[in-house]
Amino acid sequence: MHWRTRAEEGDLKAVRELVTATGFFDAAEQDLAVELVDETLARGADSGYEFLFAQNEQNAGLLGYACFGRIPATASSYDLYWIAVAPGEQGKGLGAKLLEKAETLCREQGGTRMFVDTAGRSQYSPTRAFYERMGYEKAAVLDDFYAEGDAKVIYAKSLTAK
Ligand SMILES: CC(C)(COP(=O)(O)OP(=O)(O)OC[C@H]1O[C@@H](n2cnc3c(N)ncnc32)[C@H](O)[C@@H]1OP(=O)(O)O)[C@@H](O)C(=O)NCCC(=O)NCCS
Repeated sequence: MHWRTRAEEGDLKAVRELVTATGFFDAAEQDLAVELVDETLARGADSGYEFLFAQNEQNAGLLGYACFGRIPATASSYDLYWIAVAPGEQGKGLGAKLLEKAETLCREQGGTRMFVDTAGRSQYSPTRAFYERMGYEKAAVLDDFYAEGDAKVIYAKSLTAK
């Protein structure tokens, strides 16, 4: 496994292919995932986005990635903006490794708390199970946020608790 934090031009295509392949994200969400890479390529650290990419040893294609960043105007809170693992690689521990490494990177920068938004609809129940398994606690539920009957569920985890 090869890990990389610096976004590269080829990630624009690789991220689109990966998020599309998961079948989880609609066209607007796919565009948004690519925009975060584009913004980072254009503005570097000023973008507020950080990435962690997992590739196989031959560097051919992305196996998974996470995007996160410090939440502006907070002392030390971070947001996990995106995490995705290629369908053929899911359920083998890669998502856990990506998230643990992202949390470590945040902690090293003084981050004390990680937040992540997800959806309440049934399609996202595996995603919620993943966050809960990774030590995230449901901090808030915003009913009917995404659509009637589809809540935004905000999870949080302390990055400093032992
Ligand atoms: C969510 C996602 C990132 C998890 O990555 P993954 O590599 O499949 O997860 P892992 O194999 O590392 O699993 C880590 C832990 O979460 C649990 N978990 C993962 N998927 C689960 C599921 N569907 N149901 C219950 N638990 C699950 C695993 O059992 C594991 O716990 P364990 O160590 O006790 O076995 C990945 O499945 C994915 O990309 N899904 C589609 C996109 C998505 O939902 N992204 C997040 C929203 S932005």
